[in-house]
Amino acid sequence: MIDNKITIAVTKGDRIVRQQLELLAKIGIETLEDPGSSRKLVLETTWPGVNVLLLRSSDVATYVEHGIADMGMAGKDVLLEHGEEGYYQPLDLGLGKCRIMVAGLRDEPPLPARLKIATKFVNTAKRYYAEQGVQVDIIKLYGAMELAPLTGLAHRIVDIVETGNTLKANGLVPMEHITDISTRLIVNKTSMKMKYAEVQQIIAALDAVVAEHT
Ligand code: PRP
Repeated sequence: MIDNKITIAVTKGDRIVRQQLELLAKIGIETLEDPGSSRKLVLETTWPGVNVLLLRSSDVATYVEHGIADMGMAGKDVLLEHGEEGYYQPLDLGLGKCRIMVAGLRDEPPLPARLKIATKFVNTAKRYYAEQGVQVDIIKLYGAMELAPLTGLAHRIVDIVETGNTLKANGLVPMEHITDISTRLIVNKTSMKMKYAEVQQIIAALDAVVAEHT
């Protein structure tokens, strides 16, 4: 039982919400309603005082940064895009493991010196090419990145690669590894101080469950 109320933001989206809620269930925090059948976005749990918010992955960090959620679970890819200054990141939850990579056509024609790069990870791509000292033009897309080199919109893409099947199916190959991705636990900076006991209890419990599975 806990003294302070705790709000945990998780990432809405079929597979990932299941995995995140399963992790919480393993430490005894089970939602009273199944997000699969309920349309509710705030779910009460078996721990009185602990609520779960279902958010778009890109909004989890915003809610945690502003202290509306005390803790959250979000992919490193969206955290990198959001900026990582406004919250603590105490735990790698080991879910949703994949990579952000540069990919291009398997049979790539000669390319110009200044490449066009299509991505939804604009900040990550900008940072990567700046570190390489390479000037590129970034084209922001929201999905189906693989189409960009195929149609001539861009020369290469910066995107998530998990199995590599999507690249392969579209005649693309992974070329440069930018960073490894997985789901992280993030914590509001004030909650870490003001709700220290509760937050630490949850971190320690999640840590133990994650350690068992990795
Ligand atoms: C990601 C990514 C690729 C695919 C890679 O898309 O954009 O399309 O997964 O996975 P693979 O290497 O196992 O084939 P996601 O399913 O996350 O949807 P999105 O298009 O909304 O990003």
